[in-house]
Amino acid sequence: MNYRATARSWSVRTHLPIEYEVVETPGLLNPENHELLTLPDGNRGSGTRLVVLDHAIAEIYEPRIRAYFDANKVSVDYLILPGSETNKSIERVLEVVGKLNDIGTNRLSTPPIVIGGGVVADVVGLAASLYRRGIPFVRVPTTLLAQVDVSIAAKTGVNYGGYRNRLGSYGPPPRTLVDRQFLATVPPRQLRNGMGEIFKMALIKDQRLFGLLEEYGADLIEARFSDEALRHRRIAASIADEVIGRAIAGMAAELEPNLWEKDLRRSVDYGHSFSPLVEMRALPELLHGEAVAMDCIFSAVLAAQRGLIGDAELERIVAVARRLGLQPAHPLFCDSDLLMEALADTVRHRDGRQNLPILTGIGRVVFLDDISRNEVELACGYMRKLLPRPETITRTAGLVR
Ligand SMILES: NC(=O)c1ccc[n+]([C@@H]2O[C@H](COP(=O)([O-])OP(=O)(O)OC[C@H]3O[C@@H](n4cnc5c(N)ncnc54)[C@H](O)[C@@H]3O)[C@@H](O)[C@H]2O)c1
Ligand SMILES: [Zn+2]
Repeated sequence: MNYRATARSWSVRTHLPIEYEVVETPGLLNPENHELLTLPDGNRGSGTRLVVLDHAIAEIYEPRIRAYFDANKVSVDYLILPGSETNKSIERVLEVVGKLNDIGTNRLSTPPIVIGGGVVADVVGLAASLYRRGIPFVRVPTTLLAQVDVSIAAKTGVNYGGYRNRLGSYGPPPRTLVDRQFLATVPPRQLRNGMGEIFKMALIKDQRLFGLLEEYGADLIEARFSDEALRHRRIAASIADEVIGRAIAGMAAELEPNLWEKDLRRSVDYGHSFSPLVEMRALPELLHGEAVAMDCIFSAVLAAQRGLIGDAELERIVAVARRLGLQPAHPLFCDSDLLMEALADTVRHRDGRQNLPILTGIGRVVFLDDISRNEVELACGYMRKLLPRPETITRTAGLVR
């Protein structure tokens, strides 16, 4: 065998500037509002657009959506996909890809549009990032969770092999359009679910947002963020705007300096350390934001056990979760074996370290690497005390649906 001590090598180095925007646009489906038709380059484009509708959106809004595109003389083809976590699969991604092929989607000038919750947004996002190795798409998030969290996200993904988002990509759409009016039809439980992510954002970096949730959170949910219903409660519409705006801005500020997650110490991972496995094991019982809120509480218990936050702060955090209609605990959050397994997978995801964001107060986090099984067991004991009593389970189940 010939062996040369000096190997030849070639390298490629390039920069990929990323720019994408989230535009708040009330009255998105008003035919005179042209945001939905505008391409990232500001033009209208021609050719058929694929419009993927969440099944709930199709049920409620399809006539208005059809009227919108008809009035604007835009050629569109529709695909309806089911929302909810169990449908976040690679099969659905391939269904979208098949439809893009059928209608002959162009590389740039006919970006597909997805209107729906985070599940269909992630499915279409992954399809767009795979199609011809990546085409642009337009995202219209229609649940609270999707508006405050998915709206600013660069990632796409589907569940695989019993793990959340095991297959995915970085592929932010150039434009995401947010219209709070969609929230008027979102079921209350889904609104509370979205509050789970806002709760997280408030805890890690925004005391003012935490105060707003404490004072107005329950009313915002009951009013379904609608201006009129808020007026009846003598709450200014600007409160709804501020809550949504602070959540989006907070997320944007956290993501921008670390979009590619080269730094695996991410405060936005708060509430996402133990919950991914719990959520998958509990599927379809727990929604994402519900599991995140429980993880926020569990992590706050860990903080209190170390004296990083006081008991009064912990109680205030639990009380706000409850005001938002979010259960602080679940039997799976009292199962230390499961939580240690969840932590082990999180450690693999964070490349060998715990990097656990832990509160040092409301609005502040530090990262810990040495949370022990003992501490997890102790925290499980506290969570057990937060479990709803049997009679409250029945009452809540009645409210939840
Ligand atoms: N890409 C990211 O970085 C990122 C960030 C956060 C969350 N996510 C993902 O988002 C998903 C959760 O999103 P979600 O909470 O929107 O769930 P979802 O998409 O399942 O929507 C919840 C339910 O609401 C229905 N719905 C949607 N809009 C509606 C409307 N306006 N009126 C009535 N019903 C409506 C849907 O059909 C569904 O049944 C998770 O899979 C999560 O992983 C992704
Ligand atoms: Zn989340």
